[in-house]
Amino acid sequence: MAGILRGLFGKKSDPSTPASSPTGSPATDRGAASDAPAPAPGASAASPASTGTPAAGLRQFFTEDHRACDDAWARLEELLEGDDDVQEAWDEYERVMLRHLAWEEEVLFPAFEEATGMTGGPTMVMRMEHDQMRAVIQEMADLLAQGDRKGVLARGDTMLMLVQQHNMKEEGMLYPMAEQALGGRWSELSQRLK
Ligand SMILES: [Fe+2]
Ligand SMILES: [Fe+2]
Repeated sequence: MAGILRGLFGKKSDPSTPASSPTGSPATDRGAASDAPAPAPGASAASPASTGTPAAGLRQFFTEDHRACDDAWARLEELLEGDDDVQEAWDEYERVMLRHLAWEEEVLFPAFEEATGMTGGPTMVMRMEHDQMRAVIQEMADLLAQGDRKGVLARGDTMLMLVQQHNMKEEGMLYPMAEQALGGRWSELSQRLK
C-alpha cells in the first residue's frame, strides 16, 4: 500500500516550492489539468447538488463538501464577470473553503495519522497543497480589495486547477482509506465538523 501511496501522492506537487511561492506552481499544473477537465473522474459517487451532512459517511461528507466549495466559487465567478457587488459571495466562498481546509487539518488528518501511523505521507502532501490554496485565496482577497475583478478571476483559474488535482487525490485515495481506517469513529469525529 505504501508504494501506491507514494506513487499517487509523492510524484506530483512541486514540493520544492510549497506555500512560499504559490504563484509559481500552477504553471506546472496547467498542462496536466487541461487534460482532465472533470474534477474527480470516477472517484465521486456523491450527489453534486447536495450538501454534506455528518449523517453521511466520511467519504461522502467530505466529497460533498468539495462540491459545496465548487458551487460557492461558481456563484462568485458569475458575479465577478458582471458588475454586481460580490462581497457576500466572496465571504461565502472564503468561509466554505477555509472551513473545509480546517476540517481536514484539525479533524480528519490527525485522526487518519493516528489510526494509520502515516504522518509523512499523503496528509503531509495535502497540508502543503492547502497552504498553497490559502496563499492564493489571500492573493484573491487582496486583489478584490483593490477592485481588480479580472485579477481575482485569473487567480481563480489557478485555484480551480489546484483544487481539482487536490480533490482528485483525496476523493480517489485518501478519503476511501480514511473511511476504512476511521469508519468506526465517524460519528464521534463528525461532531467536530461544525
Ligand atoms: Fe484537502
Ligand atoms: Fe478536501
